[in-house]
Amino acid sequence: MNTPERPHPAHLVAARGVVEPFRVMKMLDLVARRTQAGQDTIMLCAGQPATGAPKVVLDAAADALYASPLGYTEVVGDRALREAIAAWHSDTYGVTTSADHVIVTTGSSGGFVAAFTALLEVGDTVALPRPGYPAYRNILKALGAEVVDLVCGAETNFQPTAAMLDALPAEDKPTAVLITSPGNPTGTIIDPAELARIAAWCEDNGATLISDEDYHGMSFGPPTATAREFSDRAIVVGTLSKYFSMTGWRVGWLIVPEDLVETIENLQASVALCAPAISQVAGRAAFTDAARAELDGHIDDYRDTRAALLEELAALGLDNYAEPDGGLYLWVDVSSLTDDSETWARELVDEIGVAVAPGVDFDPVDGAGWVRLSLCGPAADAREAGRRLREHLGR
Ligand SMILES: Cc1ncc(COP(=O)(O)O)c(C=O)c1O
Repeated sequence: MNTPERPHPAHLVAARGVVEPFRVMKMLDLVARRTQAGQDTIMLCAGQPATGAPKVVLDAAADALYASPLGYTEVVGDRALREAIAAWHSDTYGVTTSADHVIVTTGSSGGFVAAFTALLEVGDTVALPRPGYPAYRNILKALGAEVVDLVCGAETNFQPTAAMLDALPAEDKPTAVLITSPGNPTGTIIDPAELARIAAWCEDNGATLISDEDYHGMSFGPPTATAREFSDRAIVVGTLSKYFSMTGWRVGWLIVPEDLVETIENLQASVALCAPAISQVAGRAAFTDAARAELDGHIDDYRDTRAALLEELAALGLDNYAEPDGGLYLWVDVSSLTDDSETWARELVDEIGVAVAPGVDFDPVDGAGWVRLSLCGPAADAREAGRRLREHLGR
């Protein structure tokens, strides 16, 4: 039916479906086009490990290809994988996590859609760190939820605090609080004591804590606590994409309280049916000692790249950044060089073949003076990028 607001309903999109582009992905497209054209580009914008899945996972995938028809798995995920995730979570953090509370999703991205849909009414408010991972706010917008920013700077190691939640005005009291540690784009880790305070605040204020633990396993020193150490009401989000180096396999998980399992299972049954079967079957092997030994080796490479990038930033005179405690990124203030890091990033790729991620993706308010650098590439690339930038800037 035609209405004045929607004269051509078949072609007009709903306002809530219009979300910001993910600029990093556009930058990756640009880099791919340059590579195809034989133009050399140093990739400092990737949000994924450059390494592949561990060898034991590849072997398991090869076997699984011929061993079964690989039909749908259980909606909540292959039982053996859920048990492997639960055992890994319990052993790593000294908690008791039951496989019955683990729901395997299509990457953690699928987990966010399911968890947000299960928890939020239209108009409910979610507190998010800013800077933060852009998909949260985009999914929330599409679901009709409101976002309240927890603005995080150097004073709090670029992470939210319980004091920030306390300071929210009554009308912004959130239904859910989302935290990411190690952070994207900051790489900073929430101190376990602060995480405990945030978990307690959520319990005291009837808010659900959603803890994005996608970058767990990737610390350069500080401990990464799981939110489930402090609250069994918290929802934990995890993935095979980051530490486990299986980005394109599209397997993530939620660890949820008992009373959410069935709701999320029913949602997942309609939205995804199940995560990819081959990835789930092979993914079990990611939790073996052999896989973990290989994966831990990658952390040493990230540590080297981190050190190289920090040296290059010093040489460039860029001294305002979030020092990464872990994860895959380095969040840098470049406001002394540009007030439009999106255009600047484009210029850098065109003129010196260095691809960085513009900050507006992660901080729509103040991000135009920031960029995110990735630790995923080799340290030698980081050094060469620094050299090109110094030459470009005449420093
Ligand atoms: C903080 C954070 N959460 C979630 C995701 C989604 O990852 P995936 O869907 O591959 O698990 C990403 C991807 O970059 C991320 O950085």
